[in-house]
Amino acid sequence: MTKAIILSGGWGTRLRPLTCTIPKTLIPVGNRPVIERQMLLLKKAGINEIVLAVSVMSDYLNNYFGNGEKLKLKLHYTDEKTPMGTAGALKLAEEYLGDDNFFMVNGDVILNFDFKDMLNIHNNQNKIGTIASRLVDNPTRYGVLIIDEKTQNILEFLEKERFNLPIKKNQKFPVNAGIYILEPEIFSYIQPYKKLSLERDVFPILATERKLSHYTISGIWKDIGLPNELLEGNILLMKEILKNNDISNNNLIESNANIDPSVKIKSPVNIGENVIIEQNCVIGPNAIIGHNVNIGVNCEIKETLIFNNVNISENTKIEKTIIADNCYVQKNAILKGKKDQPVILSSYVHINENIKLIASSDHPISICHHEVVKEDIK
Ligand code: GTP
Repeated sequence: MTKAIILSGGWGTRLRPLTCTIPKTLIPVGNRPVIERQMLLLKKAGINEIVLAVSVMSDYLNNYFGNGEKLKLKLHYTDEKTPMGTAGALKLAEEYLGDDNFFMVNGDVILNFDFKDMLNIHNNQNKIGTIASRLVDNPTRYGVLIIDEKTQNILEFLEKERFNLPIKKNQKFPVNAGIYILEPEIFSYIQPYKKLSLERDVFPILATERKLSHYTISGIWKDIGLPNELLEGNILLMKEILKNNDISNNNLIESNANIDPSVKIKSPVNIGENVIIEQNCVIGPNAIIGHNVNIGVNCEIKETLIFNNVNISENTKIEKTIIADNCYVQKNAILKGKKDQPVILSSYVHINENIKLIASSDHPISICHHEVVKEDIK
C-alpha cells in the first residue's frame, strides 16, 4: 500500500518572524494549515498512512495533528533532533516506508493535482524515482531538470547554483516541484546519520544512472517560502477554490460569520468562522481573514492575510499585510505594505492607536512576536 512522507522540519528562515512562533507548514492557506491541505489531497488519492518528517518545532505539529484520528489518517512522526536535510530526514523514516513505493512532498507547497495519476505513470516506468515537474519562465530559483525528450528520463538535476543555461524569450524550463514518488531502493543511496540533501546529493547520482523520470503537474502549485508568496498563494488558492466550486457570489464566507449588512464586500474574500465585522467596513478584494477575528467599524482591509484570533479596532486601514495569530491593532492605525514586501506582524503583536506602518522599497516592515509598536514606521 502506497504511503507518503511530508517534509516538515525546516527552519523556515525566509518566513521569519512568522516562523518564530509557528512552524511553516502550520501556517494557514485558505484558513487551514498548508500541510493539512496536502494530507487531505493525499487522502483523496487513497493514501491513509503518512509520515511527518518533523524537526524544528516538532511538538507543535504533534499537538495539532496527534495520531491523525481527526483526519481519519494514520500518522507517524520521525525523531530528527536538528534538521538533517531532505535526504537525512527521509532516511529516518525508513522503518515506516521501506516496503513499498511512497510519495514524498515538501510540506510548504500549495497544490492541487491528481496524485493517483502520478502513481499510475510511475508504476509504468520502472524507475527509482518520479519527480513532479512544473514548467516555469524563470527557473533560477528552482532545481532545473534536464530531460531526454525521447525517453523522458531525467539526464541531469541542476540545483539553483549550478544553473547556467541561457534563458531565451518565451522559453519554459521544467523545474523540480518538490513532490516525488520513490521506491524503497532510494534508502540504499542515503548514508544514515548524515545531513544530506536529496536534491544535491542523491538525485544527481540517480540522474546519471538514468533512474529518474518525471511527471508534469498542472493546477495550482506555489510554495510559501517568502512572505509575498504566502500572501499570493492564499489569494491564488481562494480563486482556485472559487473557480472549482462555481460559487455564485465569488466569496468564501463561513455561515456563522457575523457581518453587519452595511459592510461592503469586494470579491473575492475568504472569511473564517466566528468572525465579527462591524458597520461600514470595506473588506476586499483579496482579503483572507481567519477564524475568531473581530473587525471594528469603518475599517478597510484588502490584499491582506489575517490568521486566527485577531482584533482590529475601528477606522483601521490595512493593505498588503500579513497579520499572525493573536495580534491586536488599535484604532485609526494604517498598515500598508508593498507588492513584494507585505508588512508582517508576527504573533501577539500590539499596534497602538493612530500608528502608521508604511513599507517602502528600502524599508520592509516586520514586527517580531509580542512587540508593542508605539511609534510610526515609514
Ligand atoms: P528556509 O529556511 O526559508 O529555506 O525554509 P525551510 O527550512 O523550510 O527550507 P525549504 O523551503 O527548502 O524546505 C522545503 C520543505 O522541506 C519544507 O516543508 C521544510 O519544512 C522541509 N525541510 C527542509 N529542510 C528539512 C530538514 O532538514 N528536515 C526536515 N524534516 N524537513 C526539512
